[in-house]
Amino acid sequence: MFIRHEVIEKNALLLLVLSLLAVSIGGLVEIVPTFTIETTVEHVKGVRPYSPLELRGRDIYVREGCYVCHSQMIRALRDEVERYGHYSLAAESMYDHPFQWGSKRIGPDLARVGGKYSNDWHYAHLQAPRSVVPESLMPNYGFLAQTPLDYADVADRMRTNRAVGVPYTEEDLANATADLLTQANPAADQAALVARYPKAIAASGDGRTPTELDALVAYLQVLGTMVDFADTSEEQLKQ
Ligand code: HEC
Repeated sequence: MFIRHEVIEKNALLLLVLSLLAVSIGGLVEIVPTFTIETTVEHVKGVRPYSPLELRGRDIYVREGCYVCHSQMIRALRDEVERYGHYSLAAESMYDHPFQWGSKRIGPDLARVGGKYSNDWHYAHLQAPRSVVPESLMPNYGFLAQTPLDYADVADRMRTNRAVGVPYTEEDLANATADLLTQANPAADQAALVARYPKAIAASGDGRTPTELDALVAYLQVLGTMVDFADTSEEQLKQ
């Protein structure tokens, strides 16, 4: 075996050709599945596109670089599942452009933070983390509460997402601004919004001027809540 390998090692050209062959097989195995991504990622019941307010909240999450300290990817390891809940499914981030999996956990994973705390807790925590978690080293994001949300282009943002495969319908686009204002106003009737975007949680805004903080909280509150694991069979969850 080793003697025969010596032949390859002593012949630079043969070594080069065989190395290239090995590397291209490895490359193909990694690259080809991404061309069939539609069939690779199975759709799981409950996963839906973000509501307009959640989508704007997600933009703010990306803009503020929350991913620098927070991952959104629960690995299938016992300690992670016990701490954060069911491991993340590929389908749960299929409408995320770009993904927010992250690679660093200075703070906890946020893939299933939705519903873990009340809206009030998030408003207090994001504005002044140390008011609720004294040992926290997370920065204050108080300015988000003072910054009115720019939502003039929300339908265009949804259209852009649609261009890369998020299935927003014409009806979703036509109602984009109205849905955004409804979700930002806890006093508004949420029925039509929730019919379009199940499990959407109204932010706790004042109902007049949606703030960037309202959008961010609406986004955090939906994270990891779309799939009902009690209601989804193992067969459907298999990837
Ligand atoms: C410098 C790192 C850092 C950045 C940047 C950061 N965080 Fe945090 N975050 C932390 C740490 C550390 C904790 C744990 C202590 C605490 O709860 O405050 C935390 C906790 C949290 C929690 C509570 C999670 C839980 O399960 O208890 C949420 C929600 C959160 N951060 C959201 C955000 C959002 C949204 C942003 C961006 C606007 C952000 N964080 C930016 C470090 C950071």
